[in-house]
Amino acid sequence: MSIKLPEHLAIIMDGNGRWAQQRGLNRVEGHKAGAKIAENVTRWCADLGLKYLTLYAFSTENWKRPKEEVRFLFQLMVDYLKDRLNLLQEESIRIRFMGRVNELAEETRNFCKFMEDETAECNRLNLIIALNYGGRAEIVDAVKKILNDKLEHIDDAIIRRYLYLPDLPDPDLIVRTSGEKRLSNFLLWQSSYSELYFTDTLWPDFSKDELTKALEEYSRRKRRYGAVIDNEE
Ligand code: IPE
Ligand code: IPE
Ligand code: MG
Repeated sequence: MSIKLPEHLAIIMDGNGRWAQQRGLNRVEGHKAGAKIAENVTRWCADLGLKYLTLYAFSTENWKRPKEEVRFLFQLMVDYLKDRLNLLQEESIRIRFMGRVNELAEETRNFCKFMEDETAECNRLNLIIALNYGGRAEIVDAVKKILNDKLEHIDDAIIRRYLYLPDLPDPDLIVRTSGEKRLSNFLLWQSSYSELYFTDTLWPDFSKDELTKALEEYSRRKRRYGAVIDNEE
């Protein structure tokens, strides 16, 4: 079948811990395997011609995890991206971070800024990493800024302008792995008309076939946005 590509695909990469547990490994081994899959998916999306890919890497709730795991996750992300900066530039992939990055350790913050600056001119695929991201936190932060700017007339467009990345189009498709069927505080404002796709596959087992299946399913969806579509079969 011919695939109708989403402009913006967002992924809740879930199931790393369970993948490791099933193999008698430490949870962090699942995160390592998951990072490799994130790299593959990014490449597949770039090759397909997708414009925006958002990956949920760390939520505002993930601080509840053991300190060691949290530290490992940040270190893994930094090491992984640092080693692949040349590759990202060659493939013209622009990195942007979305979330309360200002709350992170200074070193991590500086690294995020460095990666954004180094890939600022890249224009094939926009890779957005949701880091210390929470949909509610994003809305709270937007409201604070709106109050600070003393705006009185509020509408959808104003709120959008105050989100972390206002130029980012809403995700057309949100994929979640590992069988959980919830958003877990991901893109709450932006997901109002997103198509949702859930698969039982754990993130470290996510494959190109799985991605194709999700895109095929998306291609079959009829998006109505509350309206009536003429000639709908
Ligand atoms: C997703 O895998 C990675 C992050 C949330 C950072 P999990 O670590 O949530 O894996 P499970 O859900 O425990 O299997
Ligand atoms: C969502 O996964 C967050 C990320 C993938 C970064 P979680 O594993 O944290 O979600 P819950 O706790 O199962 O809802
Ligand atoms: Mg999980």
